[in-house]
Amino acid sequence: MKTLLVTGARGQLGQELQGLSYTHLFRNYRFLFTDVDTLDITDAGKVEEYIAGNGIDCIINCASYTNVDKAEAEQDAAMLVNGTAPGMLAGACAEKGAFLIHVGTDFVFDGERPVPYREEDTATPLSSYGRSKLEGDRAVLGYERGTVVRTSWLYSSYGHNFFRTIHRLAVEKDELNVVYDQVGTPTYARDLARVLLLLAVNSLSGKGSYGQELFHYSNEGVCSWYDFALEIVTLTGMHCHVRPVETDQYPLPARRPRYSVMSKARIRSRLEIDIPHWKESLRNCISQLD
Ligand SMILES: NC(=O)c1ccc[n+]([C@@H]2O[C@H](COP(=O)([O-])OP(=O)(O)OC[C@H]3O[C@@H](n4cnc5c(N)ncnc54)[C@H](OP(=O)(O)O)[C@@H]3O)[C@@H](O)[C@H]2O)c1
Repeated sequence: MKTLLVTGARGQLGQELQGLSYTHLFRNYRFLFTDVDTLDITDAGKVEEYIAGNGIDCIINCASYTNVDKAEAEQDAAMLVNGTAPGMLAGACAEKGAFLIHVGTDFVFDGERPVPYREEDTATPLSSYGRSKLEGDRAVLGYERGTVVRTSWLYSSYGHNFFRTIHRLAVEKDELNVVYDQVGTPTYARDLARVLLLLAVNSLSGKGSYGQELFHYSNEGVCSWYDFALEIVTLTGMHCHVRPVETDQYPLPARRPRYSVMSKARIRSRLEIDIPHWKESLRNCISQLD
């Protein structure tokens, strides 16, 4: 039986992976889930010991420093988790030839070009978080059995994310200001989790080989944060007025790309998948709420 390790498993993506791992599709695989208290990915010695000791065949690395604004003040901490540790994971995987799937971000792009970003486009991050994630992408892609899947605007019914924040604030407030001049695509973490497991299972079963490949994955469609917030409020039937505002009216420590839509052509054709539209996935996520 092949063994998959999910790191950073208490995060929103990790929790979606846990939920899917219990389904019959994966009954022939053994899953291990760790987070910083059980396996700190910045501890190279522990990582090597864990991978060798547990006979790991594949890692899905969801561990990350994800506080984009705090990363401006804590650049070293962000770089250690997002930039350095993925390389250490790759080194530990190389000892055993394990497959490594790492999750990257659309924030590696500067958003100056209003055309969907392809994998081969030059990444010029605007923030400390983006720079640290780009370093991690490069480290994993240097490993012959390393694959990176970049995603954008991740949300789920679990954890800390824009969807949950808007849902909570719309209950508390009559009016919400949300920026309309940053455009991208939301990604339901459950959809991404399915794709990561498909990559893992294809690779472990010999159906596919994805060494040193970079993929972009988000839901289909394009929207602003304002559109996303409005749809959340409308679909959940809340009575809160969502007002469009400009980024300049809502200053934050980290700069964000104004446009970060990604082209999904490569992953769609390599995995032969249909990608759901963000509005359809949002409805699915809302149906998971209590
Ligand atoms: N969220 C987004 O909008 C978004 C967009 C694009 C890409 N992504 C990428 O998607 C991936 C998953 O994101 P997510 O939203 O699921 O993140 P998340 O909810 O913040 O989960 C990340 C998990 O990693 C853990 N972690 C932090 N440092 C660690 C360490 N040194 N060792 C082991 N675990 C550690 C965190 O623990 P603590 O909570 O205790 O720190 C947390 O449980 C990340 O690579 C992220 O960069 C996210």
